Amino acid sequence: MKENMKDPYNTKLQVDIGGLVLKNPVMTASGTFGYGEEYANFIDLNRLGALIVKGISLERRVGNPPHRIMETPCGMLNAIGLENVGVRSFLDEKLPFLKNFDVPVIVNIFGETVEEYRKLAQALSDVRGVDGLEVNISCPNVLKGGVEFGTDPDMANKVTRAVKSVTDLPVIVKLTPNVTDIAEIARSVEEGGADAVSLINTLKGMSIDIEGRVPHLKNITGGLSGPAIKPVALRMVWEVVKSVSIPVIGVGGIMDAADAVEFLIAGAKAVQIGTANFVNPHTTIDVLEGIDNYLIEHGIDDINDLIGTLKV
Ligand SMILES: Cc1cc2nc3c(=O)[nH]c(=O)nc-3n(C[C@H](O)[C@H](O)[C@H](O)COP(=O)(O)O)c2cc1C
Repeated sequence: MKENMKDPYNTKLQVDIGGLVLKNPVMTASGTFGYGEEYANFIDLNRLGALIVKGISLERRVGNPPHRIMETPCGMLNAIGLENVGVRSFLDEKLPFLKNFDVPVIVNIFGETVEEYRKLAQALSDVRGVDGLEVNISCPNVLKGGVEFGTDPDMANKVTRAVKSVTDLPVIVKLTPNVTDIAEIARSVEEGGADAVSLINTLKGMSIDIEGRVPHLKNITGGLSGPAIKPVALRMVWEVVKSVSIPVIGVGGIMDAADAVEFLIAGAKAVQIGTANFVNPHTTIDVLEGIDNYLIEHGIDDINDLIGTLKV
């Protein structure tokens, strides 16, 4: 193993996401890594490029009733319904733990109205230990808010503007694949002032118990994630990279370093690991080391020389 593979501060892996400088491009995907505590016994959180926590709303939410998760042949369906502790408890009970680590914390936020997004951004803005916001306008599993904002370019633009008007933190807007033209939504949030976009959230799907003739999920539909969605995510990242000039973060079905490298070649400046954390809690670190290996093997000194190098 080369010496620099062990160094989490190796600058050749450094990427700049809208002013947020990350020591490497590997992040956790919201909702699949809890508030960090859940994984601290498995991996060294200091090695992550950034840690994105479970989506936070103004008030605590209990989420949807069970069953809320269903395994599929190539991934999973979930309808958690954005269960979370609420912003106050997050700041009082969850953030202090994360402050012990040298890892940028990005808080994923979700509201039912534009005003709720604005208030959340305000509540998190001048807090030491919060380094960025990821604005979820893409959850398919809730009745109000979520994907409603992410499928309408005007609403997506309004939410972005509202958040940007009250914060100096880097703002990443997370996009849904459940649209006809994701590049159009990406352009509208760029126009609204987004510093970066992340994509994709889950694809709406369902699963049926043929004996009972009932849906497996109480919510009937859920969000599909995991390897099944990787080709869709990759295609959408590539389309969005060509359409905006802000950084694009790739999410969707990344299970190993080779998957992550595909996203980087397509033009993503960073990647998020989601469902893979449930399969192997060490995936983020394996991906990080695998990317480093790839760069060494291919004689690439700086990861930025790999990003967006797809030959078409
Ligand atoms: C159980 C579960 C909970 C999730 N919760 C959130 C959430 O709170 N906010 C959000 O923006 N995305 C949420 N997501 C979506 C993931 O962050 C990610 O976009 C998606 O799962 C695709 O990536 P993957 O295939 O690597 O899992 C959730 C996904 C799963 C599987």
